[in-house]
Amino acid sequence: MAQLWGGRFTKQTDQLVYNFNASISFDQKFFKQDIEGSIAHATMLGKAGIVTEEESANIVAGLKGIYQDVQDGKLEITSEYEDIHSFVEANLIDRIGDTGKKLHTGRSRNDQVALDMRLYVRDEIKETEELIKDLLQELLVLEKENIHTYMPGFTHLQKAQPVTFAHHIAAYFEMFKRDYSRLVDCRNRLNLCPLGSGALAGTTYPLDRELTASLLNFDGPTLNSMDSVSDRDYVIEYLNALSIIAMHLSRFSEEIIIWNSNEYQFIELDDAYSTGSSIMPQKKNPDIAELVRGKTGRVYGALMSMLTTMKGIPLAYDKDMQEDKELTFDAIDTVKGCVLLFTGMIKTMKLNKDKMEASAMKGFTNATDAADYLVKKGVPFRDAHGIIGRLVLYCINNQKSLLDLSIDEYKAIDPVFEEDVYDAISLETCVNLRNTIGAPGPDAMQKVIDINEAYLKSLN
Ligand code: ARG
Repeated sequence: MAQLWGGRFTKQTDQLVYNFNASISFDQKFFKQDIEGSIAHATMLGKAGIVTEEESANIVAGLKGIYQDVQDGKLEITSEYEDIHSFVEANLIDRIGDTGKKLHTGRSRNDQVALDMRLYVRDEIKETEELIKDLLQELLVLEKENIHTYMPGFTHLQKAQPVTFAHHIAAYFEMFKRDYSRLVDCRNRLNLCPLGSGALAGTTYPLDRELTASLLNFDGPTLNSMDSVSDRDYVIEYLNALSIIAMHLSRFSEEIIIWNSNEYQFIELDDAYSTGSSIMPQKKNPDIAELVRGKTGRVYGALMSMLTTMKGIPLAYDKDMQEDKELTFDAIDTVKGCVLLFTGMIKTMKLNKDKMEASAMKGFTNATDAADYLVKKGVPFRDAHGIIGRLVLYCINNQKSLLDLSIDEYKAIDPVFEEDVYDAISLETCVNLRNTIGAPGPDAMQKVIDINEAYLKSLN
């Protein structure tokens, strides 16, 4: 039991209490950030004359040594310490002697852990942004290659109107673009340094909070010490952004699963991204997409847990906040893993363009365009809707598509139809004429691709 406190206690901590209270099993995840924060604090203490420059340098060297030894496997983080802060401080004192006892001058574990979590979350957001960027890059490749790959667009999972594979993928591009900007927003908003807030009420030492903030690449110090030690909004914001990413990935996974099914066969997942069955030799299952879809639940769980943990705790620090870590770490690792795997999966999948196109030909995806054709011939839209409805019924009864009908069959329904109907309702026409920005037509699609290409470049 290595603790940073005990002077006012007359009894040993009960072992069960110690175990219940300890956080080292999970807060060691931000060991690196704890060292970074302590180096900045010690540097500032020296510059502000609170410890001597020599003491400051000794502390910094000691901290760097601890970091290196842990990296090299020479020093192990063990459960004999209450938390990562105790581990670092105890090892610093072992290493450099009494000077090590000065590191915690003008600091509390409350502002220390607030800082560590912020630094950790900031680093992780940056990594998530990079992964989303890679995914966007991959989506753009698919868009560029598939401007003329026709497929049915769906509403209610019923064929609705023809679109292109590029256009469908571009919908997800927009979603992940928003996800990216949510991450950036969150990272920008959290970028203030809580160090120097002490336990809750600042300190009496002449700390240079601007200096520690700038040493740690923050935009400046936080402006209220009570808020600083008890704010976990940025964790909730990040979990929210992660939940939305997970939701988008889950929707996309669902579509991949449908497209990859025996019935659709629009795509085929690569063997490297599929799994087999222990009993059915023919099976090739989309387990990765299913797992990505399934993991969404635990990410939402982390968000709900954090919102609930924070909702009733009085200012300022309360130990409840230690609960900000485990599920958050799990959600971060989960979403990062999902984005990475998902990107690999779509990069390696094969497209069955013929199947997509054949499917778009069936199912009357051109019925709206057939009605529009009649409107151009002077038929009011409501009447045109009725005529095409009768035509569709005829086709269903005779197992035909609109393009299979002879001109006589058309004219039997309404004499206004002429030979030019075939051209007017071909897949190409249906898609190519939809050229307002955001629509699947090739000119509109190309414009969007150009915009998104420039957007991606602007992120680098
Ligand atoms: N392990 C604690 C946490 O994660 C560190 C802060 C402890 N502060 C305290 N006053 N007990 O929140």
